[in-house]
Amino acid sequence: GKVAVLMGGRSAEREVSLMSGQGVLNALRSMGVDAHAFDPAERDVSELQRDGFDRCFIALHGRYGEDGTLQGALELLGIPYTGSGVMASSIAMDKTMTKRVWLAEGLPTPRYELVRREQLSSVSSEKLIAALGLPMIVKPAREGSSIGVTKVVRAEELPAALAQAAQCDADILCEQCIVGDEVTCPVLGAGDAAKALPVIRIVAPEGNYDYQNKYFTDDTQYLVPCGLPADEEAAIEALVVKAYQVLGCRGWGRIDVMIDGQTRQPYLLEINTSPGMTGHSLVPMSARAAGISYEALCEQLLHAASL
Ligand code: DAL
Ligand code: MG
Repeated sequence: GKVAVLMGGRSAEREVSLMSGQGVLNALRSMGVDAHAFDPAERDVSELQRDGFDRCFIALHGRYGEDGTLQGALELLGIPYTGSGVMASSIAMDKTMTKRVWLAEGLPTPRYELVRREQLSSVSSEKLIAALGLPMIVKPAREGSSIGVTKVVRAEELPAALAQAAQCDADILCEQCIVGDEVTCPVLGAGDAAKALPVIRIVAPEGNYDYQNKYFTDDTQYLVPCGLPADEEAAIEALVVKAYQVLGCRGWGRIDVMIDGQTRQPYLLEINTSPGMTGHSLVPMSARAAGISYEALCEQLLHAASL
């Protein structure tokens, strides 16, 4: 049947999604799938039903694509889709909610404080710094691709960082900065059958893995095999599978992790339930290291599409 590759959309990650979607579209077509691009910014999702699509590959990132809203619409339309369902998608989109679930399950994640946009004028920088230390990471609670994120090194930078995050979201997450190794690890499958792909270690210029270094420069190094001791890598894989399972994710996801350079303790940062599939993206890189081509990965994800 006809497959819609949902891409573009209305989030701040629209441009990233168009790159992901084009890659997925080409891959599915090369595997003989009758795949068509569908941009939810230009068309109403109800047209999916009218136009006879019987499955969707979600290559959207961020709001109205990765956050459960689109998943809910597809549930109502009765069209199976790739990736997580409504609840897991919406919790995972919200980094604060995600941390609450992980903490409740005893999983390690950096200390945090949630600041609401309306508290911006009254929030005490001193209190935040006393609670979280410096450097501190300030980010919108529901955003992706490092959009709106600042690493605050000096106290006087904090107000501007909060204001910048507040432009992206009404909820601002201030987080303890873990200094050490930055890694990411994809998970495929669902429930007890969820499995980690190889861990990737990210070495960005000046430790700054931002939007530019994610998609446009070739200055970021991606190490897979990650070069960590085997027991550390195995512990990270076990941790990310647990982190994925407790949120009820299915299909696929990619969990970003920081390892404290001193204690070697891994900390869960966040989970992406519709990870990037661009030429610079990490899930395809990790899959390739496991012997799964980009094309085979897309086909496998599509095959697992469900309601
Ligand atoms: N939010 C981007 C697309 C990612 O995590 O890959
Ligand atoms: Mg993300």
